[in-house]
Amino acid sequence: MRVLLTGGAGYIGSHTAIALLESGHDVVVLDDFSNSSSEAISRAGEIAGREIPLVRGDAADRSLVLEVLRGYQIDAVVHFAGRKSVGESVDDPLRYYSVNLGSALATLVAMADAGVHRFVFSSSATVYERPGEGLVEHDPVGIDLPNPYGRTKAMIEAIIADAARADARLHAAVLRYFNPVGAHPSGRIGEDPKGVPNNLMPFVAQVAVGERERVRVFGDDYPTADGTGVRDYIHVVDLALGHVAALEALEPGLFTVNLGTGRGASVFDVLRAFEAVADRAVPYEVVERRPGDAAVSTADPSLAHQRLGWKAQRSLDDAVRDAWRWQRANPHGYREGEE
Ligand code: WQD
Repeated sequence: MRVLLTGGAGYIGSHTAIALLESGHDVVVLDDFSNSSSEAISRAGEIAGREIPLVRGDAADRSLVLEVLRGYQIDAVVHFAGRKSVGESVDDPLRYYSVNLGSALATLVAMADAGVHRFVFSSSATVYERPGEGLVEHDPVGIDLPNPYGRTKAMIEAIIADAARADARLHAAVLRYFNPVGAHPSGRIGEDPKGVPNNLMPFVAQVAVGERERVRVFGDDYPTADGTGVRDYIHVVDLALGHVAALEALEPGLFTVNLGTGRGASVFDVLRAFEAVADRAVPYEVVERRPGDAAVSTADPSLAHQRLGWKAQRSLDDAVRDAWRWQRANPHGYREGEE
């Protein structure tokens, strides 16, 4: 299939581009580079040994998406485009609704106009989070979520469900990611957060490589084995392969699966894994809990196993080893040479 990746120059998108090319598909990327770099896609093309056509533009621009769908004779779309910071969404909800809902709607409408009916959506475990309780077992809570970012994901899931009910030609999949971590084993592409990383793994990597002084552990008084938050860290290469499996399993209608390992790891587990791989201490201090954080968030990936024949193969240690290799080789991410 020829697959359009909207927001495909980002962390998950660039890894998915490689997995698709290596599985024999063709890839085209549309990205506005508001939170990514074109360098990620040129390197992804080098790794896969294939050119990746790259269109600079906004996935919320319906006429542009239509032009790309028709111009490149696209068979399927994986929609990554959108903003993804929980904290930022609380401060600037209208931007999140405008960008995330706008790009999803423009893409879906352009697809209907172009007669493209295969769609995979990048969603998030955040749709399970109840306000004030963090993550509860796997029954999505609709739009009563703790933050606007999560609400945009739940709203887009509802839009896809309505579209699939109304048009039997639509073949759709919703993929709810748990915590993507790690990097391609080549060390050439990886997570490149702008500014201070919100997420644990890139922050620890920057401390381990000496970019930052110490890790702030957000609370060690959770009801978990060591008191710190437990998450389901899934290697980004496993996540990328989950997208290939989902695309190849599409059929009329909609299916929704969790992409996670099913295993939990605590903040201290991550710190220890980094210390073992980097062979150095990772300084930290325990501070107050971060508001809204759940004690435990781990996936039930059984439906993904059954429906997609997909299972995460890589361990937390694999992810830490690959994240460390990426961080050391690219201390300033794709902005190499910058101080
Ligand atoms: C992991 C654990 C923190 C940073 C977020 C989004 C979610 C999804 C994935 C987009 C928690 C602790 C973290 C730090 C810490 N994003 N932590 N010090 O919060 O599970 O999920 O990213 O879809 O929507 O909410 O990931 O990496 O921020 O936190 O102690 O500096 O690490 O308390 O227990 P999270 P995270």
